[in-house]
Amino acid sequence: MTHSSSTLSVPAIPAVPRHVAIIMDGNGRWATKRFLPRVAGHAKGVDAVRNTIEASLYRGIEYLTIFAFSSENWRRPTDEVSLLMRLFVTALEREVAKMHANNIRLKVVGDLSKFDIKLQEMIVNAERRTEGNTKLTVTICANYGGRWDVMQAINKMIALHPERTTFTEAELSPHLAMAYAPEPDLFIRTGGEERISNFLLWQLAYTELYFSEIYWPDFNAEALEAAIASYQQRERRFGRTSAQLSKQES
Ligand code: IPE
Ligand code: IPE
Ligand code: MG
Repeated sequence: MTHSSSTLSVPAIPAVPRHVAIIMDGNGRWATKRFLPRVAGHAKGVDAVRNTIEASLYRGIEYLTIFAFSSENWRRPTDEVSLLMRLFVTALEREVAKMHANNIRLKVVGDLSKFDIKLQEMIVNAERRTEGNTKLTVTICANYGGRWDVMQAINKMIALHPERTTFTEAELSPHLAMAYAPEPDLFIRTGGEERISNFLLWQLAYTELYFSEIYWPDFNAEALEAAIASYQQRERRFGRTSAQLSKQES
């Protein structure tokens, strides 16, 4: 199924966001503030992911997308990168059965070819095992970059029609890594920075942005509720005027 595009037509506006996309940031600072190694913040961050998944299930969110490792995070010290990889493996080992039992579909998107072959296999197996689940789709973006995504989509599109020189938006979007999901309604970034850091560049075109000072390990159901409450105050105009919207409602 292909989802509608916010630029090609005005989408339906859900009262509770159908798709929430999160940059979980601030793990390192959370740990440093407590005189702990940065990795302790990442470990605690896994608990916050689990809590956020539970809260999303409870809230009836259909798609939860989490930025776990960016295409630029390889620039970090080797020790931190390998610990993050290990954490990813343990989290998969520990959580997939529970996700499956809760009717959660797991997807992992990004350039996975750069990962250890064992981790790649675990990802494929977890995705296969949960692919028929329908309550919530949890997407982990790993070695993901918004520019990588757009470029890989362009390359696939051109490969399908090598004879053509121009294409439309509707021809490109089915090749994006997250074509199975609607565009995010709500974007959350924790940790106080107000930037996109090469997350879902194409898909965030009309997403409501929410920035929180909370460090990711402290994020919980209450913090998610605050973000949803902020979303519910927004007027999503998609290019139209406020007057046009109120006329439509009456
Ligand atoms: C986010 O926390 C987790 C990853 C990027 C993997 P950080 O590790 O970026 O934490 P800060 O921003 O340094 O506090
Ligand atoms: C963004 O956080 C990437 C992830 C959360 C995975 P970063 O901490 O890497 O972003 P910058 O470097 O502050 O922009
Ligand atoms: Mg950071």
